[in-house]
Amino acid sequence: MNILLTGGAGFIGSHTCVELCEAGHHPIIVDNYVNSCEESILRVEKITGRKIPHYQADVSDAQAMDRIFFENEIDCVVHFAGLKAVGESVEQPLRYYRNNLDTTLTLCEVMKKHGVRKIVFSSSATVYGNQPVVPYREDMPSVGCTNPYGWTKFMIEKILEGVQHANPEWSVVLLRYFNPIGAHESGLIGEDPAGIPNNLMPFIAKVAVGELKKLSVFGNDYPTPDGTGVRDYIHVVDLAKGHVKACDYAMEHPGCEIINLGTGHGYSVLDIVNTFQRVNHVEIPYEIAPRRPGDIAENYADPTKALKLLGWQAEKNLEDMCRDTYRFQTRNPKGYRG
Ligand code: NAD
Ligand code: UD1
Repeated sequence: MNILLTGGAGFIGSHTCVELCEAGHHPIIVDNYVNSCEESILRVEKITGRKIPHYQADVSDAQAMDRIFFENEIDCVVHFAGLKAVGESVEQPLRYYRNNLDTTLTLCEVMKKHGVRKIVFSSSATVYGNQPVVPYREDMPSVGCTNPYGWTKFMIEKILEGVQHANPEWSVVLLRYFNPIGAHESGLIGEDPAGIPNNLMPFIAKVAVGELKKLSVFGNDYPTPDGTGVRDYIHVVDLAKGHVKACDYAMEHPGCEIINLGTGHGYSVLDIVNTFQRVNHVEIPYEIAPRRPGDIAENYADPTKALKLLGWQAEKNLEDMCRDTYRFQTRNPKGYRG
């Protein structure tokens, strides 16, 4: 299958590109490199031994997208392209709504024009909001998002549901990711955040190599076993394999499905710190800090639908996630810019 990856140079897109190649598919990438660079694609080519056709373009540029669909016989699209920093979305809501919604609308219009009707979308567990119970199941109604980034995911889910409803030949798979971390075991591709990371694992990785002094643990008074926040961390390679299965599913099944991609296990902030220290033999200095506004105590996925529909389940454990993160960080101290 020829599969277009919008935002395919990014963290999850680059890993998905590798797994699609391994499964015998032909990925094509479009990315404007607003949060990535071409180097990640060159590294994917090194891992897979394959040339990956790639275009530098904005997904909301209809003309550029038209050309890409004209030049390639695309069977299915995985739509990763989007801005994803929660805090930034609170400061720049218009930029987030404009970018994330425009890319989706343009993409759907161009797909419609070229008769491509299979799409897998990168949604997020953030769409659930702060649910009163765990685990999170796909049939739980959202209790509302807490920031513009989350609302863009919520709205895009609705847009894609509407497109599929209007034309039942479409196949839409809405993947709700939990907390993707880790890196490819080659150490060649991984997460390369610009500036000081906001998310836990990239922050720990930079503390581990001495680039940042210490981790602030945001709150130790949550109603969780050790008082720190609990999340469902999933290895990015497992997540990438979920996309391969989702593309196969989309090719065979018209309709619209929401599917969680998580492990079904929750780990606390201190579980992550302790595991990282143990498997990598490094010290992670930390201090307890106040809770971060907007954070919830605990979430983790009910992953049974992914197993039932896609035949997919996560295989890697927390040790793998910590080891692979550290390997990428130590081999690429300046990320892809090194
Ligand atoms: P990322 O920033 O590494 O990748 C997103 C890619 O999209 C980047 O390469 C960026 O340059 C590109 N992009 C953004 N706007 C674009 C535009 N207008 N035109 C072309 N390219 C554009 O992020 P990621 O972690 O790989 O996330 C991929 C997707 O998954 C995003 O939509 C994100 O919101 C979603 N998601 C991520 C997480 C996470 O924790 N990483 C969790 C849930 C959902
Ligand atoms: C955050 C976003 C979520 C987004 C996801 C992936 C918020 C409120 N939620 O999820 O919408 O989909 O990232 O991009 O921002 N922690 C610390 N110290 C740190 C960083 C984090 O203690 O320096 C804790 C947090 O309080 C939380 C856990 O680590 O308990 C995980 O945080 P993080 O990696 O930012 O992910 P989420 O908050 O789950």
